[in-house]
Amino acid sequence: MRVLSGIQPSGSLHIGNYFGMMKRMIDYQENHELFCFIVNFHALTSTFDAERLRKQTYDAVCDFLALGLDPEKSVFWVQSDVPEVTEATWYLSNITGMGLLERCHSYKDKLAKGIPASHGLFSYPVLMAADILLYGANRVPVGKDQKQHVEVARDIAIRFNNVYGETFIIPEPDIESELATIPGIDGQKMSKSYGNTIGIFTDEASLKQIIMSIKTDSTPVNEPKPIEGNVLFSLYSLFLDQAGKEELKDRFLTPGLKYGDVKKELFSTIWEYFAPYREKREQIAKDPDLVHSIMKSGAEKARKVAVEYLSKMRHNVGIDY
Ligand code: ADP
Ligand code: TRP
Repeated sequence: MRVLSGIQPSGSLHIGNYFGMMKRMIDYQENHELFCFIVNFHALTSTFDAERLRKQTYDAVCDFLALGLDPEKSVFWVQSDVPEVTEATWYLSNITGMGLLERCHSYKDKLAKGIPASHGLFSYPVLMAADILLYGANRVPVGKDQKQHVEVARDIAIRFNNVYGETFIIPEPDIESELATIPGIDGQKMSKSYGNTIGIFTDEASLKQIIMSIKTDSTPVNEPKPIEGNVLFSLYSLFLDQAGKEELKDRFLTPGLKYGDVKKELFSTIWEYFAPYREKREQIAKDPDLVHSIMKSGAEKARKVAVEYLSKMRHNVGIDY
């Protein structure tokens, strides 16, 4: 079973990314064939500052390594280090109907957020399909927002196989319902573009300030607190096991609980949870030579698989005259 997913280096990674995608990927490396990459070609659709893109790509690599992604147990690389994916995108583009892309919510959502309409942004799902198909992925762990893109990749694979003969594995999206949409501090989906995130490696003072600003309702202290749709409850639960969640639920349902106290606890919990990773991250980030050599060998492993699929594609479309 080959599991593959990527993340854009388009800003600081947050706990929505961590629980929705990164942690699940890191867990998969123990008993699956894991392919994980930083999709900097995709980030070009919304980042137009070269220095920023470079830094964010490096930061995302360090984040993943610090959080436990093991380059010995997985294939971990930066998308642009295997540029063959852009050639594959072209072959796929020509069998991708306009209607399929026009139906994608993400394009419309991004325009609404002020990202400029461009051909790259519109055809983004085709590049993502190439990412998935070129590495023969069976399963793609993502948050709910990316489900449609994985379905587009499936449609494209099926169409390519019909037009040119059996070439690709048909991938499955892998979404864990409990982690499908992690709320941000304002209750909307946590997202870099909404400014409502809790960063994984935010400094102590900023983290405290962010946690204290989590939106809560105005239930009086001496009444039971609601659980359903309660952002504080949802965020705290991410860090608890089943017994811990039950206990938290009881505390919410018992009159007397003060949201301010829970926020302080949540702050300490998050700060301690990421403490060992923070230390590791500092060490890793200080050694760019090591980071670059890890990424180079990851790209070599990834390329081996990509090149095989690409030569099959070239042959099946008839480009190898
Ligand atoms: P953002 O919305 O912050 O830009 P991305 O779209 O880059 O995040 O998402 C990267 C990965 O993290 C994807 O697999 C996405 O589904 C997952 N993810 C992002 N935000 C959340 C969230 N709030 N809840 C669950 N998963 C998320
Ligand atoms: N579009 C995904 C996101 O924004 C990132 C991505 C690019 C991806 N290629 C991928 C995810 C391939 C899974 C598989 O989060």
